[in-house]
Amino acid sequence: MEVKYYKVIDSTNDEAARLLDGGLVEQNSSFVVRADYQTDGRGQRGNVWRSNNAENLMFSYVFFPKKVLASDQFFILQAAALSVADYLKSRGLPDVKIKWPNDIYCGMRKTCGMLIENAVSGRFIKHCIVGIGLNINQKVFPESLPNPVSMSLLTKKNYNLDEEFETLCKILEQKLTDAEKNPNELHKKYLENLLGLEKTLIYRANGVFFKGIIKNVDNRGLLTVENAESGETGVYDFKEIELVVPEQQKNTIGF
Ligand code: BTN
Repeated sequence: MEVKYYKVIDSTNDEAARLLDGGLVEQNSSFVVRADYQTDGRGQRGNVWRSNNAENLMFSYVFFPKKVLASDQFFILQAAALSVADYLKSRGLPDVKIKWPNDIYCGMRKTCGMLIENAVSGRFIKHCIVGIGLNINQKVFPESLPNPVSMSLLTKKNYNLDEEFETLCKILEQKLTDAEKNPNELHKKYLENLLGLEKTLIYRANGVFFKGIIKNVDNRGLLTVENAESGETGVYDFKEIELVVPEQQKNTIGF
């Protein structure tokens, strides 16, 4: 697979989109945009993604699903999240979990974030840009981040980024191809790896903090959470609910 590598770029997702829009890549052929440093790295919910130069993996994996309905795009997200989770487990990282929808945690700390941007044509997905920021060798993080961690902080090892990149890309390629063939199996595995399934954790929805238990994630990615005290359940879309990690709880009255 072709890898377009930059020492510095604004955002690998943006560069991937520019290459696709400009017809500068082979049609229907996967490719990856990778950078050592991003000047304008983007995260979910309009956040900025900051990463030290050449200490972590930052890349966008672009692929062209054969026949995935736009309404089924959650399968791509699940395949991408499971790929990183499987990769981290294979590298011996402890307590790897997917934090809904697609952050990857070790324990209660964030090791990887993803920004997935799909283009739709008619009822189908035309292409997917799977942007991955994986903390590998960075040891010090901005204080503003509640719970970052890197592989190196957890294992006390230093990693060769090129080798880790190659291993992770192979897993991604395999899982994203399989996702189309066996979506039910994928969904089952996603739930098995989900942080907080049937566990009581603290959430915030509509500005209200509550103890909640994740009961399910459906095929569209909607999250069902039961209020541990009232027993009521709510169904939440992306951005409507967030997990409150221990580092954020000290600012939370009543917990
Ligand atoms: C998040 O957790 O908020 C998502 C972070 C995604 C960061 C990656 S780094 C590579 C790619 N390029 C970007 O600008 N963002 C993604």
